[in-house]
Amino acid sequence: MTDLSDLTYVVGARRDSAGIRFEHVSHRYRSAQGDVDALIDIDFEIAAGEIFGIIGRSGAGKSTLVRTINRLEKPGAGRVLLNATDLSQLGERALAQARRRIGMIFQHFNLLSSSTVAENIGLPLRIAGIPAAQIKSKVDSLLELVGLSDKRDVYPARLSGGQKQRVGIARALVHDPEVLLCDEATSALDPETTESILQLLRDINRRLGLTVVLITHEMEVIRSACDRVAVMERGRIVEIGEVWRVFGSPQADATRALLQTVTHDLPPAFREQIGSARRSPKDALLLEVLVDGQGGSDPDLVALVGALSEPEIRLVHGVIEQVQGRAQGRLVLAVPGSRETTLNVGAWTALPGWRGQRVRHLGYLNAGAQHA
Ligand SMILES: Nc1ncnc2c1ncn2[C@@H]1O[C@H](COP(=O)(O)OP(=O)(O)O)[C@@H](O)[C@H]1O
Ligand SMILES: [Mg+2]
Repeated sequence: MTDLSDLTYVVGARRDSAGIRFEHVSHRYRSAQGDVDALIDIDFEIAAGEIFGIIGRSGAGKSTLVRTINRLEKPGAGRVLLNATDLSQLGERALAQARRRIGMIFQHFNLLSSSTVAENIGLPLRIAGIPAAQIKSKVDSLLELVGLSDKRDVYPARLSGGQKQRVGIARALVHDPEVLLCDEATSALDPETTESILQLLRDINRRLGLTVVLITHEMEVIRSACDRVAVMERGRIVEIGEVWRVFGSPQADATRALLQTVTHDLPPAFREQIGSARRSPKDALLLEVLVDGQGGSDPDLVALVGALSEPEIRLVHGVIEQVQGRAQGRLVLAVPGSRETTLNVGAWTALPGWRGQRVRHLGYLNAGAQHA
């Protein structure tokens, strides 16, 4: 018998989300070409309800790590706990149940080309033996959630990359998972489409309260979507923390290397003066405030301007425009080196005027360039 109780959930309602705990997880692949230590003593926790990013170069071990969460990969040592549940202790049936708590999306969408959008989304439910009427209502509400109600009966070949990934997301949500794993989910998309998919993921995270684990090799994706980030290199986590902290003062060489790519959308003359690491005590810390009008309420621009009146903080670049009645844009602020230690950026940006805004570190503005 199929348990239908988990289908009563209504899209848009909040539900429990799950935290993920890695306890000294190691994993070695053995092959004829030699052994690979893909994971080495991974030990950290992802909090329930957060958007957690894992970044690193190709081959760093990201996919292996994320696959231990739903036990597509069984770690050679250590444990992975989903809330209190150790998946490795579960039998086949219980494991199948537990896997429903975890949705996953991929870089290449993995859609069936001979099935319509609605059929693709409903497939896991059909396999589970759910009655057609229930599948239809579930699929319809998911189509609405991902903004594809008008593509219901279309085949994947007719969809753009972004639309295909929306189908992938809807399909990943059919069992109302507590966790959504995204393995390079935006890597095949152009920057604009990437941003729209990240916005959808943020929206889903906020509305459904589910935990999102986002794997990428692109810093932009982390900056745009994540609360915290872990940087992986050669099977290890070399740096972990809040995104603004990790980007603001990167400790690991791997992080610095990844950061070199993050400022490409600033004016070129300005961009050339930016480094990912502090070179002189006088270098100013560059903060970017993203005003996305998403927080439910419009940003409090008066309060933002108030924050700018902090001694010596300068607005160096900024665009705010009204889009559909909401303020959108970004501000780039320079916080002089002399102020960085006395200014608690975390507390400062927690002030009411900042609520709903995203603040990220761009790097450091070369001291010589600041008054040019
Ligand atoms: N099935 C496998 N057999 C042997 N080696 C593998 C296998 N899967 C991954 N690897 C190796 O493990 C390391 C980590 O791979 P992966 O987790 O896919 O990294 P990432 O997702 O960060 O690119 C790489 O060196 C990769 O070549
Ligand atoms: Mg990978």
